[in-house]
Amino acid sequence: MEKRPADSRAGLLPALALLLAMALMNALLYLCLDWVFIAPPHASADPSRCPYGHFRMGQMANCSPWLSCEELRTDVRQLKLVGEGAVKRVFLSEWKERKVALSRLTSLEMEEDFLHGLQMLKSLQSPHVVTLLGFCEDDHTILTEYHPLGSLGNLEETLSLARFQHANTWQHRLRLALGYVGIIDYLHHSPLGTLVMCDSSDLPKTLSQYLLTTNLSIVANDLDALPLVNRSSGMLVKCGHRELHGDFVAPEQLWPFGEDRPFQDDLMPAYDEKVDIWKIPDVSSFLLGHVEGSDMVRFHLFDIHKACKSQSPADRPTARDVLDAYQKVLNSLRDTVMSQTREML
Ligand SMILES: Nc1ncnc2c1ncn2[C@@H]1O[C@H](COP(=O)(O)OP(=O)(O)O)[C@@H](O)[C@H]1O
Ligand SMILES: [Mg+2]
Repeated sequence: MEKRPADSRAGLLPALALLLAMALMNALLYLCLDWVFIAPPHASADPSRCPYGHFRMGQMANCSPWLSCEELRTDVRQLKLVGEGAVKRVFLSEWKERKVALSRLTSLEMEEDFLHGLQMLKSLQSPHVVTLLGFCEDDHTILTEYHPLGSLGNLEETLSLARFQHANTWQHRLRLALGYVGIIDYLHHSPLGTLVMCDSSDLPKTLSQYLLTTNLSIVANDLDALPLVNRSSGMLVKCGHRELHGDFVAPEQLWPFGEDRPFQDDLMPAYDEKVDIWKIPDVSSFLLGHVEGSDMVRFHLFDIHKACKSQSPADRPTARDVLDAYQKVLNSLRDTVMSQTREML
C-alpha cells in the first residue's frame, strides 16, 4: 500500500515520455506535410504546363524545347496559306506528321512589330495564348500550334457546322465571352505588367487576333502590338501613330482637337488599358450572337456593359470586375434554368 505513490510516479514517467514522443512526431509530421503540400515558390501552378523554352501539344507525352532555326528549316514542310495580316503570312505546315502554323514576316518594314510579337509570345505562354513551338529570328519565322477553326472572326460559320450545333447555345457563347474577358484580364495582369491589346481598331481586326480552338475556347494569337502601361510612373500608351476613327475605339483614342486642326501624332494624348474595357461589350455582343437566350443574357449584362462604355476611362470597371459580373450572370441563369427544368419534370 505504501508503495503506491512511488508506483504512480513510476507510471507517470513513461506516460510523459510517450506524450513528448507523440508531440514530437506530430510536429515532424506537420513539417513533412508542409513540405509535401506547399509547392516550392517557383514551381509552375499547373504541372501540365512546360517550363520556359519548352512546349507540348496534342498527344505529346513530354515537353520539347522550342525548335531552332536548323530544325525549322529542315523538319517543317510548308503546305498552304491559311491567313494573312499586315505583319505575317501564315501557312498550314507539317512537323513530324503534325499540323503546325508557320508564320513568315510579310515585309521588312514590319520587322519591329514581328519581333515584338515574338517576344510577347515567348513571355506570355499560358493557357490564354497560342502555344509557341519554335522560331528563327534570322529567317523571320515563328512556329505555333495550328488551330483548324482559324480566327475568332469565323465563329458564326463554325457554330453553324453540324458538328458544332450542340455548342451554338447562349451558355457556350457566354463562356466564350468569359474566355475573351479572361484573356484581357490576363494581359492587364501579365507577368510583364499591364499590356494593352492595341491591334484592335475595329471589330473584324480585333477578332482576327484571336483563334478559336477545337474545344471551343479562345486563345490570343497576334501579340504584335501590346504596349506596356505603368500608371505609377505615369507611362501611358498610344495604339499606333495614325488617327483612329469610329465608335469601336474608346473616345480617348480619337483626335480631341476637332476637324479644324489636322491630326498630329505628337499632340495626340496617350491613354491606358481602359481602352480594352470600352471594346468588351462589342466583342461580347458578337460572341453572344443571335441564338435563343442571347438577348436574355445581353439584358443581364446591360449594367456592366454600360459601365464599360463610361466616357471617362477611370469610371470603367477593370477586366476582373467584368469577369466577375459575367460569372455571376452565368451562375444565376444556370440556376434559374435548372430550377425551371426541375419544375417541368
Ligand atoms: N496558329 C494558327 N492556326 C490557324 N490559323 C492561324 C494561326 N495563326 C494565324 N492564323 C490565321 O492567320 C491570320 C493572320 O495571323 P496574325 O498572327 O494575326 O497575322 P498579323 O500579325 O499579320 O495580323 C489570323 O487571323 C488567322 O486567321
Ligand atoms: Mg493579326
